[in-house]
Amino acid sequence: MKKAEHIIARIGQLLNTHLEKSKAKATPALDQRPAEEIAEALQLKQVFKKGFQTEHEISSFVSTYLTHTNHLQHPHYMGHQVAVPHDLAGIPELIHGTVNNPSSLYEMGPAGATCEGFMINWMLDKVGWFEGDDYYDFHFSPGKASGVLTHGGSVANLTALAAARAAIAPDAWTEGNPTDLVVIGAASAHYSIARALSILGLGKKAFYPVAVNENEVIQIDNLNAVYQKALADGKRVMCVVANACATSTGLFEPLDTMGDFCLQHKLWFHVDGAHGAAALAGPKSRHYVKGIEKATSIIWDAHKMMRVPALCTAVLFKDFTRQAGAFQQKGSYVFHDTKVVGMDSMPYTIECTKSALGLKLFWAFALEGEAAIGHYIDQTFTLAKDFHALLQKEDSFVTPYFPESNILCFRYEKQDASDDFQKELRYAVINQHRFYITSCEMNGKRYLRVVLINPATTLDELKDLVQEIRKIAAGLVC
Ligand SMILES: Cc1ncc(COP(=O)(O)O)c(C=O)c1O
Repeated sequence: MKKAEHIIARIGQLLNTHLEKSKAKATPALDQRPAEEIAEALQLKQVFKKGFQTEHEISSFVSTYLTHTNHLQHPHYMGHQVAVPHDLAGIPELIHGTVNNPSSLYEMGPAGATCEGFMINWMLDKVGWFEGDDYYDFHFSPGKASGVLTHGGSVANLTALAAARAAIAPDAWTEGNPTDLVVIGAASAHYSIARALSILGLGKKAFYPVAVNENEVIQIDNLNAVYQKALADGKRVMCVVANACATSTGLFEPLDTMGDFCLQHKLWFHVDGAHGAAALAGPKSRHYVKGIEKATSIIWDAHKMMRVPALCTAVLFKDFTRQAGAFQQKGSYVFHDTKVVGMDSMPYTIECTKSALGLKLFWAFALEGEAAIGHYIDQTFTLAKDFHALLQKEDSFVTPYFPESNILCFRYEKQDASDDFQKELRYAVINQHRFYITSCEMNGKRYLRVVLINPATTLDELKDLVQEIRKIAAGLVC
């Protein structure tokens, strides 16, 4: 077998061809085959037993693997909230996969941990919480804002809620939960919030939902009534959660008002900005998250709107004391009380070993410079508005709301206005392999849904989508 450098070069060529063809729409957006067929094509059993025997076997495996992927670089990829990375975004993964330096313990990955500290400072600065003079100030201290990177928004929400619990019930870590803790948020909060409550042992019932409007945005006038009900039930409010933005619709909640409410009642305010906190970086989009700085904690997925390959999420705290409370656990071999070089994030994360997340986040900026990400966010948010305008002029397309982010739900009702038809239509569209879109339920109704996350997607592709939907719907008998 040839040396690693030859094989890496060959894989580089295959990846390059994959990118070029996807971008040129010379591949399907997604051609989903059954798992058994893919297993045969990849020869999983044979390769598993004997291992790769030649360089050719490696390239052939990779080439087949790439065929059976969802082609995110295809301009017709407008499916889930998963970043379309830069062409060279895989390099940190290659470096990490080669040197394997998990960065939660500084001494195990000093460079990765340093990139993480730098990027956390940048994010804190975007929120308006960074008080240092320099992003090279890496030290956590009580009273100052802080944060860590973690593997995904669900883990990040759990981390923030664990910290909120520690603030209101410091003994819960040792003694177990008191029975009077509740969390308030819109009924449309992401399911990872309910999961976090169950995982924390508070139970799903500890979520007190605030009713939402027809577009699933919190009815803010009801927030106080839900709060009063919680008090009347003898509960203590562990935190109030805001959607920024909602997963299905991409609509933002009034963070400013919710933040004021929490300040007034001295409540922990958690902003689930998995998708939408990225608006902080877009000069034209920033206003959607006005008031986010009133939060106690924020989560922000870089693998959604920051062009970073999955997974990479920041959990940010206005005060390091809050972060420090989340996991009151000691491991003498990892948590040193004496002064050590660098900074460990391990005491503040669910993970013990974590990937070099800081490098891949930093890399997304390093490839094009800071301004490019902000421009990208503004561009995708604007495209959703342009698509909305386009659909409004198109007969039989229904758009329930004006988009605020890069997510838009809509229906096509010419042949059939039923929910089942929208669902069938979505599958029929993706099974033609030209477009990859999603569908979701909003307020009990089924919609087609696009997430305009690929910087190569333009209004022309969306015009093409409209025609594709019309053509496919005409041939569908539901
Ligand atoms: C609002 C919101 N919160 C949390 C999550 C969970 O994030 P992740 O998929 O990174 O676990 C999502 C995912 O779509 C989301 O939209």
